Amino acid sequence: MKLKIAVLSGDGIGPEVTRQAIKALKAIAEYFKHEFEFNTALVGAIAIEKTGIPLPAETLKVCKESDTVLFGAIGSDTFDKNPYQDVFPEQGLLQLRHDLGLYANIRPVIVYNYLLDNSPLKKERVRGTNILIYREISAGVFYGKKGSSKDGTASFDTFNYTQSQISRISRAAFTASLSRRKKVTLIDKSNVLETSRLWRKTVLEVSKEFPEVELDLMYVDKAAEKIITTPKDFDVIVTSNLIGDFISEQASALVGSKGIMASASIGEKYSLFEPIHGTYPSAIQKGIANPTGAILSAVLLLKHFGLAKEATAIKKAVIKAMQLQLTTPDLNAVNPITTEKVGDFIADYILNPDLTDMNIENIYLGQSTII
Ligand code: IPM
Ligand code: MN
Repeated sequence: MKLKIAVLSGDGIGPEVTRQAIKALKAIAEYFKHEFEFNTALVGAIAIEKTGIPLPAETLKVCKESDTVLFGAIGSDTFDKNPYQDVFPEQGLLQLRHDLGLYANIRPVIVYNYLLDNSPLKKERVRGTNILIYREISAGVFYGKKGSSKDGTASFDTFNYTQSQISRISRAAFTASLSRRKKVTLIDKSNVLETSRLWRKTVLEVSKEFPEVELDLMYVDKAAEKIITTPKDFDVIVTSNLIGDFISEQASALVGSKGIMASASIGEKYSLFEPIHGTYPSAIQKGIANPTGAILSAVLLLKHFGLAKEATAIKKAVIKAMQLQLTTPDLNAVNPITTEKVGDFIADYILNPDLTDMNIENIYLGQSTII
């Protein structure tokens, strides 16, 4: 298969983790005889620095001319500390989601047995957790009308949703649940918010199309508790933009490191794949950023294009790295390897899947991973 992939590695640790995802994809292309073409473009703080805007027209063009987008991270400390600027990096991602028509941000939360010791929660509580979050990303308070009073002492944001925006993501979530445990939890705040009441009405309607799927309705404050106390009770979660942002980040804590969480953003025509972590400023170019979230985002990309064998090949390599504790310090504080080395190992394993006798010592010595 020929795939044109736009690479927007962005800011902070984005470039170094995205490089590892590309390594894995290049190994897949070589092993399975595909043609993957990578076209890089600027987004975020780096784009502001170079062009004055967070999403240059050229970047959008590269994305639209590609089959899909691989995204790194966005944001910068300098902007975070200065709330007086009108232009900031994150606008680049929000505009990109909008201009590409992406509406479902899908975030799998999988607790791997190999990482049970890394979870902040008791093993028996998290073992077996497997949640799929469908976060709406085309609307809500992220895109509603906003503004400030002239004297700057008052501001507002508007939380908007339409029935059709809610029903399309709900259908996607219900459909996904059919090949899972057939349970969907809607998380909202419908005891207070009008938009949440529309969510509840709409999801109840959509659920009639899926009689075999159990629907659970939960307020977000309750969900914040339940994600921690009984994470295994969740299967597919469907929720709005802002609630999904918070809940998915909270759920990411369960798995042991936010660095391993991947996501897929899907629209009618375009798609984008990105790790859920941010720019991790204190880790930039130290070789300590975990590239697994970026690499697993590449797995979601391959699955999206129907390349199931290829997706499994990367996933197996990732699991092997976890089993062997060949990982960055967030997961292995005692004997970690660098970001690059994790990427090298995974690419090597993809190309040599039958080689079970890898010389692990060589990885620590910085030599080839394969004997
Ligand atoms: C995420 C991020 C973004 C969001 C930011 C960078 C705009 O936090 O993908 O979760 O809030 O959607
Ligand atoms: Mn977020």
